[in-house]
Amino acid sequence: MQDLVIAPSILAADFARLGEEVADVLHAGADWVHFDVMDNHYVPNLSFGPVVCQALRGHGITAPIDVHLMVRPVDRLIPDFAAAGATLISFHPEASDHIDRSLQLIRDQGCQTGLVFNPATPLDCLRYVIDKVDLVLLMSVNPGFGGQKFIPATLEKLREARALIDAHHRPVRLEVDGGVGPDNIADVVAAGADTVVAGSAIFGQPDYAAVITEMRRRAGA
Ligand code: DX5
Ligand code: ZN
Repeated sequence: MQDLVIAPSILAADFARLGEEVADVLHAGADWVHFDVMDNHYVPNLSFGPVVCQALRGHGITAPIDVHLMVRPVDRLIPDFAAAGATLISFHPEASDHIDRSLQLIRDQGCQTGLVFNPATPLDCLRYVIDKVDLVLLMSVNPGFGGQKFIPATLEKLREARALIDAHHRPVRLEVDGGVGPDNIADVVAAGADTVVAGSAIFGQPDYAAVITEMRRRAGA
């Protein structure tokens, strides 16, 4: 397995102190910043856009920023996020008119690519574009809100995605997002995840370092 990456979702952070919150969680041992972009169209909620990403870079955040686009259409925002300092840009295939084109656009802008699959969305399109994908993100809740309960069928889907990725012999990361924390991190890692998003499980606790250390311990990483 590639090294375990822990990517706190800043959707659960205190927005009034976002720069400090991000610095604190990275100092506490997090690897990436998971940046949930919601448009009140593809998902029934509204969060933040490229200016906030740019503000974090301006605040001295140098860690990878993992932008999870829950927006429709997709393409218009890609150059803006690349210019704002995104490292990875992931999108939901059903939100793009031309999946291959959106992936290419992300690469052309110098970012790494990700495809996101909702709990009931099959992985079908993945095999046709896997050479253009750096990260596969499996949603373990329906997108739109933090603090939801992990959907157990995700474990079987993680195993399926892991087999697909391993057959491809390229370092594609497998990320899981939604309802993950110390209690189930061992299960998602055993099923093949190497990158774990956690929002409320981390930001909902007073001691970020204690949760992150506990997550790594339980994951056996
Ligand atoms: C849901 C988002 C997730 C979410 C994770 O649409 O993509 O990243 O904020 O939050 P928790 O860990 O609280 O489920
Ligand atoms: Zn997310």
